[in-house]
Amino acid sequence: MTEDNRPKFSTKFGVIAATVGSAVGLGNIWRFPYEAGAHGGGAFLLVNLICVVLIGIPVVCAEFLMGRSSRRNIFGAMSSLAPRGGKWWRLAGFLGVASGTLILSFYAVVAGWTLEYLFQSVTGNLTAAGVRESHTEFSAFTAGWRCVFWTVVLLAINAMVVLRGVQKGIEKASNLMMPLLFVLLIVMAVNSLLLPGADTGLRFLFSPDFSQMNSATILSALGQAFFSLSVGLGTLTVYGSYFPADTRIVRSASIMAGLDTMVAIIAGVIIFPAVFSFGMEPAAGPQLIFEVLPDIFSQMAGGAVWSTLFFLLLLIASLTSTISLTEVGVAFCVERWHMSRPKALAATIGFVTFFGIFCALSFGPLSSLTVSGMTIFDIFDYVTSNIFLPLGGMLVSIFVGWIVDSATVDYELRPAPRFLRGMIVFLLRYLCPLAILAVFINNLLG
Ligand code: PFF
Repeated sequence: MTEDNRPKFSTKFGVIAATVGSAVGLGNIWRFPYEAGAHGGGAFLLVNLICVVLIGIPVVCAEFLMGRSSRRNIFGAMSSLAPRGGKWWRLAGFLGVASGTLILSFYAVVAGWTLEYLFQSVTGNLTAAGVRESHTEFSAFTAGWRCVFWTVVLLAINAMVVLRGVQKGIEKASNLMMPLLFVLLIVMAVNSLLLPGADTGLRFLFSPDFSQMNSATILSALGQAFFSLSVGLGTLTVYGSYFPADTRIVRSASIMAGLDTMVAIIAGVIIFPAVFSFGMEPAAGPQLIFEVLPDIFSQMAGGAVWSTLFFLLLLIASLTSTISLTEVGVAFCVERWHMSRPKALAATIGFVTFFGIFCALSFGPLSSLTVSGMTIFDIFDYVTSNIFLPLGGMLVSIFVGWIVDSATVDYELRPAPRFLRGMIVFLLRYLCPLAILAVFINNLLG
């Protein structure tokens, strides 16, 4: 089953840098703080941690082991690991590849915004005029073709890395970018903690307000865990297929989940003290980063430097995630249709650019093109995050828990202790599918 000529990550550090690089992204830096703020701060954090440990880590292990034992992308893994070619399971694999491509289409748009904000920070424009009309500026920028331009630039940078292959492209870029990301995170967190009134922000993030905890808190904490860990669409399967034979799957999954959660918490530590210290409202979603933070930076001493560092951090985080999403489509085209890597990349990026342009324009010229009130961007976001991702995660846990030969699963999870291996299989069989089903139904209804 093993294809020895398959490219592999060359070092243990490379495995961690690439997988953490995929997980750490926009989901940690803008989505987590906003979700935590909206769902009771510390209470959300606590439930999120439980979800990461009990559901996230087992599904990450499942994806890693599917990739490593089949040495294929998710489509190939589903057909080669299921008995008798898994005709129906292949459809699940295809769903993963499709959702990877669709997520990349809108994710690249937001990642493109970070390029514009980085550019504006470096040129000093973002912070030049004191407190500015950040809301108007954000709307004006996202309404025009400039944001299409940055989407295309981002995809081009992405393509240059992926074209160089697994070791020289993905692994090398992750090895360089991830340590830089951690340094930037620490520097920015220290700066935020030194701001006057930082403790109000910290209390907002860490004090568990259980009165605000309800089923929506639990479900959104689980949804956040999926998105943030990059599970449910085959990204981690394709990275698992590049793992050397001696990579410890359970350990790698735990390190990845631990670092991913740590980055989300540090992002909260960077953002909330600053928001409270400058008397801003912790607004929801993209606004927090692109509207509220520029105002804060313009009032801060050395604001231009801090905004440059912050948007550089956001750019690095999103790039390592878009790289992993691109690899899903590329590996599929290479294996399924026997394309060369450059051709597979051209096909994937061509597809994503086409859809990405529509997503980018949905804030301006195409904003009136809506289906039940949702723009094209909203539809891509909604359908992938709320339907495809939970469905994919549920199918992966059922597939590894019930369909894949249990000796293969056990072998791949070694050398983790027997108790832990048994526990992971138990969670994949029962808790994960049921919990994910609950999220899925909630999202569909709500
Ligand atoms: N985990 C990434 C983030 O938190 O931004 C987003 C993501 C990347 C989701 C790759 C899914 C994926 F396959």
